[in-house]
Order: sequence, then structure tokens, then C-alpha cells
Amino acid sequence: MSSIESVLQENRIFNPSPEFVAQANVSGMDAYKALCAEAEADYEGYWGRLARENIVWKQPFTTVLDESKAPFYQWFPDGKLNISWNCLDKNVEAGLGDKTAIIFEADKGEVTKVTYRELLSRVAKFANALKGLGVKKGDRVIIYLPMSIEGVVAMQACARIGAIHSVVFGGFSAAALRDRIEDAGAVLIITADEQCRGGKNIPLKPAVDEALTLGGCGSVRNVVVYQRSGGPANMVAGRDLWWHDLVAGQSETCEPEWVDAEHPLFLLYTSGSTGKPKGVQHSTGGYLLLAILTMKWTFDIKPTDVFWCTADIGWVTGHTYGTYGPLACGGTEIVFEGVPTYPDAGRFWKMIQTHKASVFYTAPTAIRALIKLGEGHPEHHPEKYDLSSLRLLGTVGEPINPEAWMWYHEKVGGGRCPIVDTWWQTETGAHMITPLPGATPTVPGSCTLPFPGIMAAIVDETGHELEWGKGGFLVIKRPWPSMIRTIWGDPERYRKNYYPEELGGKLYLAGDGSVRDPKTGYFTIMGRIDDVLNVSGHRLGTMEIESALVSNPLVAEAAVVGKPHDIKGEAIVAYVVLKRARPVGEEAKQLANDLRNHVAHEIGPIAKPDEIRFGDNLPKTRSGKIMRRLLRTLARGEEITSDVSTLENPAILDQLKEVVK
Ligand code: WTA
Repeated sequence: MSSIESVLQENRIFNPSPEFVAQANVSGMDAYKALCAEAEADYEGYWGRLARENIVWKQPFTTVLDESKAPFYQWFPDGKLNISWNCLDKNVEAGLGDKTAIIFEADKGEVTKVTYRELLSRVAKFANALKGLGVKKGDRVIIYLPMSIEGVVAMQACARIGAIHSVVFGGFSAAALRDRIEDAGAVLIITADEQCRGGKNIPLKPAVDEALTLGGCGSVRNVVVYQRSGGPANMVAGRDLWWHDLVAGQSETCEPEWVDAEHPLFLLYTSGSTGKPKGVQHSTGGYLLLAILTMKWTFDIKPTDVFWCTADIGWVTGHTYGTYGPLACGGTEIVFEGVPTYPDAGRFWKMIQTHKASVFYTAPTAIRALIKLGEGHPEHHPEKYDLSSLRLLGTVGEPINPEAWMWYHEKVGGGRCPIVDTWWQTETGAHMITPLPGATPTVPGSCTLPFPGIMAAIVDETGHELEWGKGGFLVIKRPWPSMIRTIWGDPERYRKNYYPEELGGKLYLAGDGSVRDPKTGYFTIMGRIDDVLNVSGHRLGTMEIESALVSNPLVAEAAVVGKPHDIKGEAIVAYVVLKRARPVGEEAKQLANDLRNHVAHEIGPIAKPDEIRFGDNLPKTRSGKIMRRLLRTLARGEEITSDVSTLENPAILDQLKEVVK
């Protein structure tokens, strides 16, 4: 993560080129300002206009925003629509039936293209199959699938029949999957035999089988299995069904379920600072509106574009900019099964060249990794590929350091492509603070200005807005259409987390620290203010990892902190106290390894601590509070200069300097 200093020193400004401005959907700063002014002057009028212009409603809404149950806001509450209809039927009816909707490239390179007409037919068939299994409007369906056309089809099919999908990233373990199944009360799980990544086949179905034996999953009636590789699937009679058997003979038409705009479209579990991951609940209408608008304004999407968002469908980015946004705009998008480093570090660039991608959206961690690999393997450097099809680049998920920004700009974008550094969250549904590429001059490392209509601000701990130049809490002052509606099953947690009383109860608290440039008002994100880590753009709660560690019978106590990492942004450092004597040497090595695997088993490989350090105890105040600040200093390898005399046991600090190699 870039420090505040390095960001504030950044004063290079990149203006959009006149050619880009001339063709942009939002053309020039005046156009951006006009939209902001329209929203300022008549907030509901603004969103109402856009919702009428961008969504096809089955039944038009008469109310734009209902704040009577704040902070449980309702948008377009009396309108009815279907999001799958807006993504598929609408485009086929508009004459785009033969247009390529998805270009799928598999791990090993096979390419499959699907037109809008075919996609609609596949979604309708699968939707009919789900109905045949008794899945009804409002039922929860867990999707545990690799990146695939089937992943998009499964999500769209749920939306078509009003079922609420909850996609679980294929990298999560059986235990993590079980927690989500139980919390959501899912009736059905859609999975695959295996996923193919980096030339390897990784089992998926066994994780589902294991999850279902762990208890708490009594709501699940069926498991639908997409045969990806022909790997072992252990089909359980009466419970498990093959995808291909289910869709065979299904009708290609399926009347959509017309739902209220507020009908939940999906739950997506994400980490917070306390407790287990929370099910962020999104709506149908408001979510769709911002998915479309951000595609049009942030990504400047045009009928001729080939759009590629590299995010997995297991994350919100894969929802908004993989499954819904591009299709709702009638775009052509790339869906990629594999990893950026297989068969070599040129994979992304080669794919851009082959498919003539024009808009490319990825995470800073991927860029940083590819910079490094490109140095070691000049033959896979972006300069070796024809990337002239690119016209716009984007980043998401974590702060991008100016060095990586410049490399992306020059080596990938050939110096001609604007970069949109988009700040947003699972909870916000879509971009909140981002440049509009034909309007906003960009500054490396800054996500610049709020999306038109988004009232972002920085406040102090009492909720008072700070002057520009002062760092504080990032908040959003007014509700917006694509916002989180609640935490599934825990409305109180929603209220406390996002609308805390300390800030007055009316400001959405994002959980990030931010500062605005004193002159331009541009926002720079400084990272989380809570105990949430951002590891390679993945959100992980320190508490979650601590609980995973403590669930190992050997562990008495654990504390987890982040430390800056060149490529991943943040690395995970775990301090562990065992129930037995502090291990050293070979034993420590072995135990550290076991514990890392234990965390992978409890959560998933993405949560494996990078470092484990063993102590006889943890540094605590006399009242027994773990001093995380000290642990963070130790993790960074810095000397502790503050007074530690209030510590119960200062000698412990020396032990905790030692990293198990
Ligand atoms: C961080 C991902 C800096 C931030 C869409 C946020 C960013 C968290 C940016 C949400 C960005 C996301 N610059 N930081 N452009 N985008 N973040 O829910 O800390 O997986 O709160 O959503 O990622 O992560 P999430």
C-alpha cells in the first residue's frame, strides 16, 4: 500500500486526449460537472431519469427513493423488472441476437464464443431446469463454479426465476463453503467436478461433499454438477444431478419472473472486522442501474468494444463487470478460466492481442506481479505483443502505487489509454469514486472524483466533514441505488457497521481511510481503517484468520496483522501462542507449515499466513488487550520506539521478532 507521503508527492497529471474526449460517452469535464450539478439540484429526479432511460421496466416505478425505513433504503420500490431479461432478451429483441456476448478462453487456450441468442437459450433452459427442481423465487442458490460460461448462465438463470444467488469463490475451502451455505439457508448448490487453473485440475465437487457432511446444511436438497474435466464427481444418488442431464430436453423459452426492484438479486459474503463473513444483500433494480451507468460512463462502453474484466465471478467485480454490466449494455466480453502466469507471464497480453480487447480491467496486484515477471522474461513483456486494440484500462481492489500505474500506462496502454482507478466495494455494488476517462484528468495513485450522483466525503470520528488535505474516514452522505440493502439475517449488524451512531447514523461508513488533495479535491485511498486486510485484492478479516488458527487444537491464542508487500499489497503475519512450549528450530518449521495448511483448510489458500511467529505470549496491556500496533511494527521489521512499560511482559517482543523460515 502506498504511504500517504508518496501519494501526496505525486503531481503528474494526465489529461484525456482530445480524440478520446471527442468520442466519450461523458465528454469533457463540463459534461461531468453538469451531471453532478443535476444530482445536487434534484437527487431523486436525477436517479429517476437515469433509471427510466437505462432500464426496461415491466412496470414503471412511481417512487424513486423511499427513506422512511432509513438506513434500510428502497429504490424504485414499486417498479418491476427482470435483470436477466434486461441482459439477454432486450438485446436479442434489439437485433443483437447474433452478436457475440461471451468469448470464453479456457485455461489451456480453447476458445468458445456464445452469441446473445445462444446465451439466452442456455439461460432459459437452465432456468427451467432449476424450476423443475423446485427452486422458487426468493430461494437461495449457492454457486461454486470456476470461471466459465456456465458460471454466467447459472447466475443469470437464478436471476431469471427470482432465486437469490450467492457465488462462493472456488478458492474457498469446504469449511468456508459450509458457513455460507448455512447462513444463506441454500436449497441448491451448483458446482463443477473440477476447476482448471494454471495447467492443473483442482477438485471442486469434493469440497461440496465435505461441506455437506460438516453439519448445518440441512436446507440443501440438490447439487447440480457441471462436468468440466471429467474428474471424479462422486455423484450421490437422489441428491446430485449432472448439469447436462438436467438441461437436455428443456424448453428454450422461460418467462422471466418479474420482480420488484427491491427483490434481492444476490448475496455475496465478504469479510468484516468482526465475526464470520457477512452476506451482503443487493437489490435488482438499483444494482442494475449502476452496473449499466458505470459501464457507460467509467468504461465508456460502445457497441464495438471487447470488454475484459479479469475478476472471478466469486468477487463482486466479477458480478457487476463480468455477469451483469457488460451484458446489460449489449457488449462483448471475455471470460477467462485460467491464471495470468500460465502458460507464461504473457498470457494476458496474448489474449488481448488475439481477441482484440479494447477495455481491460484488472487488479494492481496482477499488474505488479506481471511487471516483475516481465523483467525476468523479456519475451513475455507486453511490448512483445500487439496491444493496439486497447483504448481504455482500469484497476480495482486496492490502491495502485504510482510506479505500477506508470508501467500500466506506458507498457500496456502504449501511453494512449486513459486509466480508470475505480474505488468501490462489495457493499457499493458499483464504482463510487473513479475518473470518467473522457472527462477527468488522472493522477497516478488517485481514484480522483466521485461518480456523478455519489456524495462521497471525508469526515472525522464525530462525522464532521474535514477540509481537503486532512485524512479521515471515507463516507457516502446520501443513499445510492446500488448500495447494500442489509446483511442477510442480521439487519442490526448492517446498521451498526455501515451507519454507526458515532457518525450520526446518517453517513455510510466505507471502512477506508482517505484524503483529498488540497487543490483538486481528488481522493486518495489510504487503506482500511478496520481489521480487514487486502491481500492481492482479496478482502480478509484478521479475526477470521485468528479464529481459523485458534480452531487448531494446538493453538492457545493468535493475533494476525498485515504488513506491506511489494506484489500482494499486504501480506499476512500471524503471531501464535501454543498450548505447549514455544517451538524452535525444525519443530517450529513443521508446526508453522501445519498451521498454514490448517488455515487453508478452514478458509482457503488465499488466507494462508505468509509468516508465522511463535511466542510464549502476546504483547498485552495490563488490562489484557493485545497491542496490535506493536505487532504491526514488529511485522514491518521496525524498531519499537514507543514506551512499552505498560506491557504486561515486554520481553515477549524479542521472541516475536523471530520469523519461522
Ligand atoms: C479496497 C472490491 C484503493 C478498499 C471492488 C475497499 C481500493 C475494499 C480500490 C473493497 C481502489 C477497492 N483504490 N483501494 N481503487 N478499490 N479498494 O469488497 O479498501 O472486495 O474498501 O470490493 O478494497 O474490497 P471488495
